[in-house]
Amino acid sequence: MAADVFGRTLNYLRVSLTDRCNLRCIYCMPEQMNFKPREALLQTNELFLLTRLFAELGFSKFRLTGGEPTVRRDIVEIVRHAAQLPGVREVSMTTNGLRLKTLAEPLAEAGLKRVNISLDSPDPKQFREITRQGNISKVWQGIEAAERAGLTPIKLNAVIIRGCNDDMITDLAKLTLIHPWQVRFIELMPLGEMAPFAQHYLVSEHEMRKRIAAQYIPLEPLNDGNLDGEARLYRFPGALGTVGFISSVSQPFYASCNRIRLTADGVLRLCLLQDQEVDLLSPLRAGASQEELSQMIIEALRRKPWGHNLHHNVVPVSRMMSQIGG
Ligand code: 5AD
Ligand code: SF4
Repeated sequence: MAADVFGRTLNYLRVSLTDRCNLRCIYCMPEQMNFKPREALLQTNELFLLTRLFAELGFSKFRLTGGEPTVRRDIVEIVRHAAQLPGVREVSMTTNGLRLKTLAEPLAEAGLKRVNISLDSPDPKQFREITRQGNISKVWQGIEAAERAGLTPIKLNAVIIRGCNDDMITDLAKLTLIHPWQVRFIELMPLGEMAPFAQHYLVSEHEMRKRIAAQYIPLEPLNDGNLDGEARLYRFPGALGTVGFISSVSQPFYASCNRIRLTADGVLRLCLLQDQEVDLLSPLRAGASQEELSQMIIEALRRKPWGHNLHHNVVPVSRMMSQIGG
């Protein structure tokens, strides 16, 4: 089992498959985004090799992210490969849902267990404003298709931006009254070029819950207020679903962090909100053996930072979210 110097067991790998996306969310990337040339990204065989090494090191939970993972043409193949790796218990995906109408079934058949779908507003006009080009009806169709294919429980991710979709917090939370979904509010995180935006428009978990209580009724904590993965869970009395908060900015969860990120350009990112990275693609292409690569990964993992330094005003600058995968 891989572990870091703090004794945390690391068994959860988030793999970004591409920095490209079929949306341009205003908090995630600039309108004119420069994407990496394709040859700078992990090719299918390189991806297979690295994910296999992680499985051999005891990583049992894989999440495929982007950019938007479904824009990769080999996405079903990638899921099938990850799901069949020895020791892997769960392969899931974070997606904007646009392509799930056609992909949910083949992905489930290939071994995908669950999906997290981004939905920042239930209002079509606001959704288009935030995504710069998105058609929300495609997302609803994607959610339906994911439910039909059994990619459940469905989690919906909402990033709240002050003065933009903060009037929809209660409506988003109330979706859980009649749907067995987990609606999760993710605090806006400052990353790279988009950091000033995030710092300016952040709405904290505390404020979101206060607004829900004022506009409807208070949420009741689940699990005695303890974290479930990265989210703190709540429920409205009698609701079918739950409401989660991922409060990485205002209430970070260092001690329970068991995750590591592999970026689409083959770099190990040790903490989402810190710039410490270890390049794996260059040694791989320079002919490093599998044992050498494994050793590099083990050593890098040991050096995973305890947590971020946002509270000391140290903001990660090297990458935006779409270049890490969230
Ligand atoms: N802060 C918080 N969440 C973000 N996401 C993208 N950029 C940011 C950011 N700066 C979300 C997406 C998606 C998930 C992978 O991360 O909306 O749901
Ligand atoms: Fe694409 Fe997700 Fe970024 Fe939106 S937040 S632009 S859907 S990668």
